[in-house]
Amino acid sequence: MTRIAVAGAAGRMGQAIIRSFRSVPGVELVAATEMSVHKGLGKDVGVLAGTEKTGILLSDDLQAAITAADVLIDFTFHTAVPLNTKMALQCGRAMVIGTTGLDAVETDIVKKATEKLPIVWAPNMSIGVNLLFAIVKQAATALATGYKVEIDETHHIHKKDSPSGTALKLGEKVAEGLGLDFKSAMVHDADGALRKHPEGKIVIRSHREGEVVGDHTVSFGNDAERIEFTHRAWSRESLALGAIRAAQWVVSRKPGLYDMQDVLGL
Ligand SMILES: NC(=O)c1ccc[n+]([C@@H]2O[C@H](COP(=O)([O-])OP(=O)(O)OC[C@H]3O[C@@H](n4cnc5c(N)ncnc54)[C@H](O)[C@@H]3O)[C@@H](O)[C@H]2O)c1
Repeated sequence: MTRIAVAGAAGRMGQAIIRSFRSVPGVELVAATEMSVHKGLGKDVGVLAGTEKTGILLSDDLQAAITAADVLIDFTFHTAVPLNTKMALQCGRAMVIGTTGLDAVETDIVKKATEKLPIVWAPNMSIGVNLLFAIVKQAATALATGYKVEIDETHHIHKKDSPSGTALKLGEKVAEGLGLDFKSAMVHDADGALRKHPEGKIVIRSHREGEVVGDHTVSFGNDAERIEFTHRAWSRESLALGAIRAAQWVVSRKPGLYDMQDVLGL
């Protein structure tokens, strides 16, 4: 049984993780933390996440949470990650970090900690998306030349960044497989204005529609055939399940910095 503490437990990802525990065998939620000003402190985290009671109350006692666990899952805010990492280091506990947006100093603190702790750190924890990264690289390597590559990404209308980080990563994987420099090969079609596929380029088309959580399709086409690889996310649970799987995996690893490709053996 892997004992897990969740930091940022009342946030969108934290709540998705709390809801996902019941569908994963071999894991136990032992603690859940939030900022000391959070109004949910002292409440059952299952109830806060809109599911059944867990018996675990939301707390701001990070040290007690980490001590009770084998591993800490962190989905907080970039400024909180250094302190959480230092506490994990002090207690000798593994970590899974999903939090993004760390600056250079914060990143160095995490990297330094991996000399003594095993840490999985990945900007996209979805098992399906990480599998897609590996598949499109393999497809690009096999198809090699003569195919037009397009990446279509669709997200909800509130999304600020365009193209999505996942679309960019998919493009990097395709470029690796084709032996291209991604930055010079990538063309972004943000508004559907691009009519003709520029020769030898990887085109990313961004679409913003309703409340779509995240769809990505990578296609390879020529005059004879078209091959498409699609991933559709219905909810944040797809990311939460990846984080829990990473937590189960990381507890028995040597110190080091790992990503989801390592967790999935890709
Ligand atoms: N790796 C992935 O797959 C993935 C997926 C989604 C989001 N993210 C990233 O994860 C982070 C959280 O995303 P979110 O959508 O859940 O955000 P959110 O704002 O909904 O939740 C973050 C929570 O962390 C809490 N928090 C902040 N500082 C804390 C501290 N010191 N201790 C404990 N809790 C603290 C906040 O109160 C908040 O409830 C962001 O950096 C986001 O970009 C990563």
